[in-house]
Formats: sequence, C-alpha cells, structure tokens
Amino acid sequence: MLEPADLMQAVSESFRRGSLAGLNVVVTAGPTREPLYPVRYLSNRSSGKMGYAVAAAAHEAGATVCLVSGPVSLDPPPGVQLVLVESAQDMLTEVMARTSDCDIFIAAAAVADYQPAERAQHKVKRQANDWALSLKPAPDVLASVAASQPRPFCVGFAAETEQLQQHAQRKRLHKGIEMIAANQVGEGQGFDVDENALLLVWEGGQLQLEKDTKYRLAVRLIEQVAGIYKTSTQFNQTEHHAKHSA
Ligand code: CTP
Repeated sequence: MLEPADLMQAVSESFRRGSLAGLNVVVTAGPTREPLYPVRYLSNRSSGKMGYAVAAAAHEAGATVCLVSGPVSLDPPPGVQLVLVESAQDMLTEVMARTSDCDIFIAAAAVADYQPAERAQHKVKRQANDWALSLKPAPDVLASVAASQPRPFCVGFAAETEQLQQHAQRKRLHKGIEMIAANQVGEGQGFDVDENALLLVWEGGQLQLEKDTKYRLAVRLIEQVAGIYKTSTQFNQTEHHAKHSA
C-alpha cells in the first residue's frame, strides 16, 4: 500500500494532460566540474537556466521529468525529479541509467569536452615553475545516449560563436540526433543571462525563435519537440504503449 502522499501524487499524475502527457523526459543542465585535485576543478560559465526552464516546460506539458544537473544555484522546478552530479562521467552514469525508460532526452548541459588526464589525491602546492596540464576527452553524454539501444528521441543544444545554422546542422548529423537547438554565445549572449534566441534545426526543417526569456523559449522548444516526436517515424504508438504498460 502506498503512503497517502504518494497515492495522491500517482492519482494526480494519471490525470495530467498536455503535449507530453504520459512520456518520460530526461533533461541535462548546468556546467560540469572536472576535478584536478580535492579543491580545484575545471568548469565553465553555464548557469543552468536554460536546462531548468526546459525541465519546467516539459513538466508543464505533462511529462514525467528527471533533471540531471551539474552544480548551479537554482531551485529545481516543482514536480521535477532532480539528480545532482559534478563531472561529465557522473552525468553520463546517471543519464545512461535512465535511457531505457526515457522517451525524450534533452541535453542542455554545458558538459566539459576535456577532463584532467590525472587527478591528484592531495592539493597541488604552488611552485616557481610552470604547470602544464594534460587533458583527455571527457565522455560525450549526448552522443552516448544517441548511440545506445533502445534510445530515446534526442535533442541537443549547440553553443556557437559563428555560422550558427551550418554548425548546428553539422553537429546534429555528427551526434546522430533528431533535433538541435542552436544559440549564439559570446559577447554577453548565451551564458548566465536570462534571455536567449534559439535556432531549432531538425531533418527537413528549421525554426528561428527570436530573443525571449529562457522560460518562454523553453515552452516553444517543448511544443516543437512534442510535434516532431509525435510525427517522427521512430514514434510507434504500439511500441510506446507496450513499453509503458510492461
Ligand atoms: N554534450 C554532451 N557531452 C559532452 C559535450 C557536449 O552531452 N561532453 C552535449 C551538450 O549538452 C549539447 C551538445 O552536446 O547538447 C553540443 O554541445 P557543444 O558544447 O555545443 O558541442 P560539442 O559537442 O562540445 O562540440 P564543439 O566543442 O565542437 O562545438
């Protein structure tokens, strides 16, 4: 027998409506931290605002949402399950543990591309000579999900400083994903700001979302994702019901 609060939650979930009702969505957000030693790490300027807005919009569209987030100073959106991680490797582990039960994966995190080749056990002391860091590629969370089987419908983000459309389309094909949301970064755009503009690119179409709050952009992104997900050839109603009633 479930606890009364869990029962209420289950009942209200079963009455939820919206373009993503009945679907499981996993969203990544925020930066990752790649440890050098116990007190220092490599990271980036991502605030997590876009990913948190996407998670909120997906929840409001009726989805069951799990937000896998790097360290940020934001409150999780109500009704969304939050899983906190630090490194790209932690993010990969938490996301991969959820892919088989996930219908739509949206990668909004600014995951490190490189991680220190070695991690020191103790604090590295200051010395007079230079310190050359050796880095190795960090796991690509989005590409790993896209290469897994069974795999969810995958949406990525592309932060670009130039040639937005070309880089976005190339990145979408390279990562093997259904849709990419590209945004211009640099010169006060993209990171740690409340507004953004997005170019959505998918196979056979694109949509420019003009500058707006990250929340309103997230609502429009979710609307578009829901439409393309449903018409996508991958979406098989029978398979979907079988998966969720199993
Ligand atoms: N991404 C990821 N894991 C990584 C790097 C990126 O999951 N290690 C995801 C991001 O969450 C985003 C997409 O891949 O959805 C593209 O991220 P971006 O940083 O723009 O591109 P990169 O793959 O890093 O490629 P490049 O550095 O060449 O632009």
